[in-house]
Amino acid sequence: METGNITAFIVTNEHSSIQQFRDVAEIILDQSQQRPKLGIILGTGLGALASDINDSVVIPYNTLPNWPTSTVKGHAGRLVVGNLEDQPTLVMQGRAHYYEGYSMDAVGFPVRVMKMLGIDTLFVTNAAGGINPEFEAGDVMLISDHINLIGMSGLSPLRGPNISEFGPRFPDMMHAYDPELRKMAFQVGSKCGYGVHQGVYAGLAGPNLESPVEYRMLKTIGADAVGMSTVAEVIVARHSGMSVLGVSGITNRANLDGTSYTTLTEVLEVGKVIAPKILKIVLGVVRQLQ
Ligand code: HPA
Repeated sequence: METGNITAFIVTNEHSSIQQFRDVAEIILDQSQQRPKLGIILGTGLGALASDINDSVVIPYNTLPNWPTSTVKGHAGRLVVGNLEDQPTLVMQGRAHYYEGYSMDAVGFPVRVMKMLGIDTLFVTNAAGGINPEFEAGDVMLISDHINLIGMSGLSPLRGPNISEFGPRFPDMMHAYDPELRKMAFQVGSKCGYGVHQGVYAGLAGPNLESPVEYRMLKTIGADAVGMSTVAEVIVARHSGMSVLGVSGITNRANLDGTSYTTLTEVLEVGKVIAPKILKIVLGVVRQLQ
């Protein structure tokens, strides 16, 4: 999707060292009294969720060494560290994507810094295209599993020497999305009275949207929604034993029959409708974590 100013700061390092994660964690700890246990990554058009954080410290990504800055409209590019429902929380207002020019290592970098900070639960949100014909633009989908199409073709955030302080060489992906967190989220969403689905997220590289035949292929292989993020972050989180809740905001229906177009403007507009829905789910689950 549309890119803003790509600075000279594009991070392409293939294999970050544990010291690089430690250094950034220390900078964050120096600036905030909080010791967050929960991390939240806000996707395209969903950044408004950060305004519910109290007593917050704001840290721009470009002040953190090796942290991938956001170059996409709809991604503020800053960390907000504070209290969410009295729970110490670190929020990423915007993320980095592979299509921006970052290595997969860089895309996963923030999650490893979170682990260094002591964060053990990660909520990931994204904007996604709805492939399941029952999904409408404006719906919410709790991610039950993913199809790592980028990773299957070789682009894994775990490629390279394994950092065993984080986790094993061959991490299991059986429960990539924590069933308990998802159950809580589903109960909260159902009570709010709007459509909350559960389904499979297919992660692609982008930045182009899919062709009608590609959308149909994704439907055939079992995907309910498709997007250009999330999977790498979740794999890095699960490698280091974090529990994950994944929430997709369905911003557009997949163009399965080749009759409609999708634009970033549409994604951002529908994102405004979805953000409060996702916020209610996030807040409802956070309350139960205490
Ligand atoms: N495809 C891929 N990524 C997306 C889409 C889509 O249809 N909508 C929002 N992000």
